Amino acid sequence: MSNMMDVEDVDLGHPEDSLDEAARRLWRKAVAFGTWDPSKIDLSQDKLDYQRLSPGMRAYLESFCGAFYHAEENVARLFCPWIMSVSSTWQQAYLSTQLVEEFKHTDFFSRYFEEVFGVSSPKRRLANPVHDSLYERSRQLLASLEAPEGERATRLVEAFTHYQGIIEGVQANAGYHIFVHVFGKHGLFPGLSQGFRNIQRDEGRHVGFGMRVLRHYAERDAVLAARIRDIYQAYLPFIRSRYGQPIEVDGVCYDPPVEERGIERLMEMYERRMRDIFGTHWQGALE
Ligand SMILES: [Fe+2]
Ligand SMILES: [Fe+2]
Repeated sequence: MSNMMDVEDVDLGHPEDSLDEAARRLWRKAVAFGTWDPSKIDLSQDKLDYQRLSPGMRAYLESFCGAFYHAEENVARLFCPWIMSVSSTWQQAYLSTQLVEEFKHTDFFSRYFEEVFGVSSPKRRLANPVHDSLYERSRQLLASLEAPEGERATRLVEAFTHYQGIIEGVQANAGYHIFVHVFGKHGLFPGLSQGFRNIQRDEGRHVGFGMRVLRHYAERDAVLAARIRDIYQAYLPFIRSRYGQPIEVDGVCYDPPVEERGIERLMEMYERRMRDIFGTHWQGALE
């Protein structure tokens, strides 16, 4: 059980390492340990657990997994410019492992929908401004590869803040905590729990490197540090609005489970990321 509960596993490495040293270490770790296969996870108990759920919890689980499925697919398909935006071989090598891993996460949810929920993809797709604006971010990053150094650094910082800092570091991380508290700690859905554990281990590297990149730029340039804070603050209302909302399925509204405590978990992740980037000098989100 303690293993299941241990979802905060962001690999920040050694603060004195350079970005290249951090990237090379994470590359080695990804090659050695990032080898799980989404097709090998046993989903037979999950099918039984799903059939026994109440209609409200079934709607909640499908909506929850649907949001992850869309998120993983979206970030996987848009990620290539992030690899191209970093300057060194080891940073590119490390980020190439992240690209494969995002597609593995997509593969896992695709299989889960087919085998457990019995549908090829989520029935509904809720508008999500955090994800819907990533396409534009990806295009801006790609265009900046030919731009002067200052503009390239700005676009890189914006892109890492949006993707690794907010989508992965706050939104997805809060999601793992919610899954553990709503389903995982009751021993339900062992296949989904295993999948989330494997995904979270990969994400620990993704967020860890993202935090290193953002801290690197924030320490060197006050304008870039302010840009990071501005983007976090601009997206915060959009991430908050996802939680505490009733889910409507076929005209029936279901309240989210009380264990969700979505906004509370989200804000905890937000504060943690601020400390990862800006250190203990961070004064709090409501300042
Ligand atoms: Fe992912
Ligand atoms: Fe990721």
